[in-house]
Amino acid sequence: VTEPNVDQRADWNCGSGLRWAADADRRDRVLAPVLDALLAAAELQAGEELVDIGCGCGAATLAAAERLGAGAALGVDIARTMLDIARQRAVGIQRVSFLEADAQTVRFEQTFDVAISRFGTLFFDDPVGAFRNIRGALRDGGRLCIATWQPLEANEWLTLPGSVLRRFAEIPPGHGTDAEMFSQAGPAHVEAMLSQAGWRDVRVHSEIVELPMGADAAEAADYLATTGPGRRIMQEIDVDDHPAALAAVADALVPFVRDGAVRMSAGINIVHGRF
Ligand SMILES: C[S@@+](CC[C@H](N)C(=O)[O-])C[C@H]1O[C@@H](n2cnc3c(N)ncnc32)[C@H](O)[C@@H]1O
Repeated sequence: VTEPNVDQRADWNCGSGLRWAADADRRDRVLAPVLDALLAAAELQAGEELVDIGCGCGAATLAAAERLGAGAALGVDIARTMLDIARQRAVGIQRVSFLEADAQTVRFEQTFDVAISRFGTLFFDDPVGAFRNIRGALRDGGRLCIATWQPLEANEWLTLPGSVLRRFAEIPPGHGTDAEMFSQAGPAHVEAMLSQAGWRDVRVHSEIVELPMGADAAEAADYLATTGPGRRIMQEIDVDDHPAALAAVADALVPFVRDGAVRMSAGINIVHGRF
């Protein structure tokens, strides 16, 4: 029997995980509006017990814990490198803990009122099984509230730098778009998947948020060319052309500078479910 999520475990403990861990504060600044939207939608109550699925470096776990008063928050992730950062960030903070485990299969030793996630549920090789497993860790009346990406086309922060970078290399149309990143993009698909996993009252609320990509165009271009789809396209560009490619992305970002940051729109889904 093949172990589940082997490729993801390898990637999040090495390539992607090391890049996230090395740049965790910047990624959290960029993704802060997603966290705000997620926490507003989760309607956390003091005293609740929460699990953060695919918690990575723990930003959502820690922010949620602040709202739980006497409650508690557990972050679960398969990537030790990222959990190391999460644990460092949590030093001295009560009622927050982290568990290295595969959320698809782990037998949770406790039950929760709410499961949240910021982009940590997109990578399961058996999503229905994973969401069924997570549901099994909730108490009666428990709820799910997760953030997923809308399709690529709804994400200007990816399409705009992507189209500029493509001028510098022969890249086939689909290349550099990240299948997992958009695996829970379609509301109908997500609703069907969660219903199949036993969740009730599934609702997908699609919204647009503005992500601060960097303090100025050069910083934002650096971020976009070293992250996700932009990074993959950059790998196809001749190294000698990298400075020109980065400068072209920076030029294209100048019109997006507002209130001290490059602000670009991102399409996300906030997905709700009930036990
Ligand atoms: C895009 S990152 C998001 C991290 C974090 N939620 C955040 O917003 O900063 C996805 C995370 O999901 C984790 N992950 C992927 N597959 C997982 C699985 N089967 N079980 C637990 N975590 C998983 C990865 O290790 C990674 O930390």
